[in-house]
Amino acid sequence: MTARLIDGNALARQTRAELATRVADLAASGLRPALAVILVGDDAASQVYVRHKVADCEGVGMRSILDRLPAQTTEAALLARIQALNADATVHGILVQLPLPAHIDTHKVIATIAPSKDVDGFHLANAGALMVGQHGFRPCTPYGCMRMLQSAGIEARGRHAVVVGRSNIVGKPMAMLLLQANATVTICHSATPDLGAFTRQADILVAAVGRRDTIRADMVKPGAVVIDVGMNRNEEGKLCGDVDFDAVREVAGWITPVPGGVGPMTRAMLLVNTLEAAEDAARARAR
Ligand code: GUN
Repeated sequence: MTARLIDGNALARQTRAELATRVADLAASGLRPALAVILVGDDAASQVYVRHKVADCEGVGMRSILDRLPAQTTEAALLARIQALNADATVHGILVQLPLPAHIDTHKVIATIAPSKDVDGFHLANAGALMVGQHGFRPCTPYGCMRMLQSAGIEARGRHAVVVGRSNIVGKPMAMLLLQANATVTICHSATPDLGAFTRQADILVAAVGRRDTIRADMVKPGAVVIDVGMNRNEEGKLCGDVDFDAVREVAGWITPVPGGVGPMTRAMLLVNTLEAAEDAARARAR
């Protein structure tokens, strides 16, 4: 059997088209959604990501503000910039690109972003809201993965989902979203012995490790849904995920490719969150 592909590019395109309509509706009422992106330093990968985020905003008619700060920016200066954006009613979403230089406390930075503008969903208030099932921003990558499952008509309810990776950005929120969707969830990580013994039980397998070929064909249950969050380079410099795609696609029932899978949906969900922040602001203004 060859797995069916979940096409992240196509779904992201469709998501952006729907967003563009909602952005235009909001703009007609005098409110243009705006995302502020802060990049500290000149990490090459971060520069590419940030450029994409800004271009994505423009593509759906949102305003973007890009703040490029030098690597030696002090923590106090960064916090002051965030506070200014918190107070600016024309800005609806704030994203500080990670990783930050080592002299800056990332937790403190995230805690300074107003939860109502935290479109990354990293603030403790949003992480807590996800934990207890309340309204809040969902981190973009796991949120995008859930949309991909939904688009393929894959029910999480009653299935065994295995998440490999426990980061605050992907693994943990992914597990919570799957749990909320009534899956039975197992979280595996770098200290899990015999990873395959767990992954072979998965009806839905999410790989968010950051190491290529972590998931091989003999680690996948026939017919399983395999979501590959990895973003790595092989020895030829080609982009690849955490899953041995060519081999696993012969075993799985569904699979997301890299590139063209989770990545484009992560970017699309940032726009979804930003639009929701702007719509929340419009509702608050109307009250
Ligand atoms: N760096 C890598 N992924 C992300 C992300 O989703 N958000 C932010 N702010 N930084 C990142």
